[in-house]
Amino acid sequence: MDRVTLKNVSKSFDDLMAVRDLSLVVKDEEFVSLLGPSGCGKTTVLRLIAGLEQPTNGEIYEDGKLVSGPGSDRGMVFQEFALFPWRTVIKNVEFGLEIKGLSKHKRREKALKYIDLVNLEGFEDTYPHELSGGMKQRVGIARALANEPDVLLMDEPFGSLDAQTRNIMQKELLRIWEQTKTTIIFVTHSVDEAVYLSDRIIALTARPASVKKTIPVNLLRPRDRTSEEFAKIRHDVLQELGDEVTLALKRERAREA
Ligand SMILES: Nc1ncnc2c1ncn2[C@@H]1O[C@H](COP(=O)(O)OP(=O)(O)O)[C@@H](O)[C@H]1O
Ligand SMILES: [Mg+2]
Repeated sequence: MDRVTLKNVSKSFDDLMAVRDLSLVVKDEEFVSLLGPSGCGKTTVLRLIAGLEQPTNGEIYEDGKLVSGPGSDRGMVFQEFALFPWRTVIKNVEFGLEIKGLSKHKRREKALKYIDLVNLEGFEDTYPHELSGGMKQRVGIARALANEPDVLLMDEPFGSLDAQTRNIMQKELLRIWEQTKTTIIFVTHSVDEAVYLSDRIIALTARPASVKKTIPVNLLRPRDRTSEEFAKIRHDVLQELGDEVTLALKRERAREA
């Protein structure tokens, strides 16, 4: 079943074109990564799917319905966590459920379920500033999942974490995805992360973003980053991205290292 469809989507901000004629179909329960260098238009694509921006041209569908604004069928996880600092963990997770008008009892029940799922039990009454980056992002994931969305939109969610925490969170995300079967559209500029996580990688062009190449990752999970097959796909992805984009990615990697 087609979960999310983008049909010839373009987006311009005044005279700056961020996305050009981008078409994409994401299947239900699929894990798809959008891979491209900084500034290519990845966040804009996610914000369009989330309904936070309107396309200049083209249409976006979720479960066959035209997307015209934000909705609880699509949950977003941000790189900068975007938690409410004055709310405890459980109050952060309950946020969307309050908006939906769920009873106090139902909210609590659901929030606890997703706090458990992300392994944060015991931290319900903690405030965001008391948590590490990895734990903050667990809250971000629990908050998005508590609404039980059909699609989870993740914008470089592990981008600000140290390498070790990032690896742990990638594993955790796969476990959560396998448990919830939520479709995931994951934005990253890390080739390694895309190969480790995805069923399919959509390599984007430099700005304006459009689909350069779709690369299936037919490796069993858990994947071994040090294996030959992994290295081969990483190599193929870098080739496909093309020289211009590869250079931009190399600069990113050098900055990260
Ligand atoms: N609201 C906006 N107004 C004007 N320009 C924007 C806006 N949002 C994004 N852009 C521009 O669109 C381009 C793509 O941005 P973005 O989607 O954030 O890229 P990425 O997430 O790949 O780094 C950038 O040049 C950025 O400055
Ligand atoms: Mg971005």
